[in-house]
Amino acid sequence: MADRVFSAADRQFMDHALRLGRRGLGLTWPNPSVGCVLVKDDVIVGRGLTQPGGRPHGETTAIAHAGGSAKGATAYVTLEPCSHYGKTAPCSDALARAGVSRVVCAVGDPDPRVRGRGFTMLRAYGIAVDVGLREHEAALDHRGHFSRIRLGRPFVQLKMAMSSDGFVAVKGGARTQISGPRAHDQVHLMRAMADAIMVGVGTVLSDDPMLNCRLPGMERRSPIRVVIDSRLRLPLASRLVRTAGDIPTWVLGTVGAAPEAERALRAAGCEVMLVRRMEDGSVDVAAALRLLAVRGITRVMTEGGPTLARTLIDADLADEIWLTRSPDPLGDGVPALAGPLPARYRPVESRHAGRDHVEIFLREP
Ligand SMILES: NC(=O)c1ccc[n+]([C@@H]2O[C@H](COP(=O)([O-])OP(=O)(O)OC[C@H]3O[C@@H](n4cnc5c(N)ncnc54)[C@H](OP(=O)(O)O)[C@@H]3O)[C@@H](O)[C@H]2O)c1
Repeated sequence: MADRVFSAADRQFMDHALRLGRRGLGLTWPNPSVGCVLVKDDVIVGRGLTQPGGRPHGETTAIAHAGGSAKGATAYVTLEPCSHYGKTAPCSDALARAGVSRVVCAVGDPDPRVRGRGFTMLRAYGIAVDVGLREHEAALDHRGHFSRIRLGRPFVQLKMAMSSDGFVAVKGGARTQISGPRAHDQVHLMRAMADAIMVGVGTVLSDDPMLNCRLPGMERRSPIRVVIDSRLRLPLASRLVRTAGDIPTWVLGTVGAAPEAERALRAAGCEVMLVRRMEDGSVDVAAALRLLAVRGITRVMTEGGPTLARTLIDADLADEIWLTRSPDPLGDGVPALAGPLPARYRPVESRHAGRDHVEIFLREP
């Protein structure tokens, strides 16, 4: 079906729209980052992606870029154009008003406010609509949005670096540089493409991390920092708290556990959110992720230690796992994950990052 409908040029333009959309990952929450390319006579007349904060949408940005040239153009768009009146008019309307004659779309939007209505609206305007080009790739790019809509929680990407003999830090837990500069840069790029970065308080107590994006020129793409901290032990002197005024820092504790610490963290500029406590007193991470979704977060990268990693894996809440293995042993230290990953994690990619080796696992749906 796809081969009959879509030409080689269609594929090129959709790939371009996908690349555009990816640029906005981590910036557009609560909305998905949508890329759109307007093409007339094989020439690109307009390009756009969802703007930071989620508005304007990719289609309207591309239409504004094209101006009058949008008339009679084909729009390549990575997600079904919206059909509902929110803070802005629907993109389906905007495409029709601009005079677009055909829309090629990668994938439908499961958002109940859209869910096929965008396509119906476009067809009602007499616009030709072809759906399904690069559907798989687009579904991967929109995983955060899809997870928030379908599961009520963000897409969770778990990253962990370990020595060749399986330790994440030296004994005693002191901050330990495990991976090399190439893997390090990859982590910072992943941070830039996440809406939030999450650790357990154990990582803050031992490493005092900044959890920001430090790639040159991308410093402003640092995501929200989230600390899972049942008793609000996050030190006021930590770098996270001291920089909470510059980079939003959300502390997720348990209800009623530490009212004084709660007040002090709030006064220091952190946002404190409280969720249900598990029987052992720890944070109910499923509830914590639901809360993040309610706040609009669609993509979470978790860089916590082995305790949080194990909780997320055991609760089936880690969607993608990145394990970076250094060629060097530590001899002894804090063990990474006890036992192998559950069978539901399928290895999807294996690559080198300088001297380190990165393996990516995807959870079967
Ligand atoms: N190599 C790497 O990739 C990497 C990354 C990060 C950390 N590390 C290393 O890991 C060590 C820290 O390990 P860690 O396991 O203590 O760090 P962690 O997993 O980031 O933090 C664990 C803490 O989070 C809190 N927490 C609250 N609710 C939880 C829940 N439901 N599940 C899990 N944790 C919950 C707990 O403290 P409360 O009960 O007080 O809330 C718990 O002790 C350090 O040595 C650090 O250097 C290595």
